[in-house]
Amino acid sequence: MIKTIAHHVTPVLLAVLYFVMLVASSASAGALQGKKMASQLHCMACHGERGDERSAFVPKLAGQKRNYLSLQLRAFRQAAPIILGGEIVTKRVHRTMQSRTTNLTDRQIEDLAAFYSGLTCKSAPRKDRVPRPDRAKTCEICHGGHRTNPFRSIPTLASQKETYLIRQLEDISKGIRSKHGSARRYHRLMEVTGHKLTDHEIKTLAHYFAGVPCRRY
Ligand code: HEC
Ligand code: HEC
Repeated sequence: MIKTIAHHVTPVLLAVLYFVMLVASSASAGALQGKKMASQLHCMACHGERGDERSAFVPKLAGQKRNYLSLQLRAFRQAAPIILGGEIVTKRVHRTMQSRTTNLTDRQIEDLAAFYSGLTCKSAPRKDRVPRPDRAKTCEICHGGHRTNPFRSIPTLASQKETYLIRQLEDISKGIRSKHGSARRYHRLMEVTGHKLTDHEIKTLAHYFAGVPCRRY
């Protein structure tokens, strides 16, 4: 009896294993392609060899959410608001990044996102860790920190560059206040809180999240 079950189960198990290996190897093939492309397109000149360049205003990409990265590259390429259901839901315009993405195909974008999200995020040094401001609780509903961030298109902020986070919060807040008008960045979900922050709160929150250790999701 046991022999008969094993006889039937083994081919199924092998098929499942084969499928899992196939999916895993196609994901790593994408990341490998992405690595080649990042080098050919000189992404590394600004973002660093390991996606963790520390220079001001250039974001760390290592370990960031794959889906989020691919959405950002598509938004830069489009360089105009993204409209869904007849309403602007997101916008991200940046001249440098537009010029780097304008000729990318969807496939290339997916490979680049696979490469950068697969790199290991380096946590901020311990001395950079600061007490958690009360305001951070709202942010953590979406972005994680003390809580998890299970959302594929919401970026993790942990150990991101402080100067970069400040600039993005200023841009997003302008985008919400001006109803996306001429601002460089807008996202409807950030309307929950993004425009209510004072300059001081922006700095405190950026300082805090920049010191939160990276976490693998
Ligand atoms: C000349 C410098 C430069 C080069 C080259 C460059 N980037 Fe960027 N990248 C930036 C800057 C600056 C930003 C921040 C944009 C902003 O402030 O909105 C950025 C933002 C990004 C983001 C958004 C990250 C986030 O956390 O939101 C992604 C993804 C990205 N770059 C990927 C790439 C890829 C892939 C390439 C190569 C095709 C590339 N970059 C080439 C400077 C550069
Ligand atoms: C309802 C969910 C939600 C909440 C709450 C929220 N955010 Fe966001 N946030 C988002 C989304 C979605 C994006 C991605 C925007 C995009 O795709 O351009 C974002 C983007 C950001 C970015 C840009 C990150 C990057 O890598 O470029 C920063 C910084 C940020 N949020 C900070 C905050 C802070 C600080 C708070 C709390 C005061 C907060 N957010 C609360 C959903 C949220």
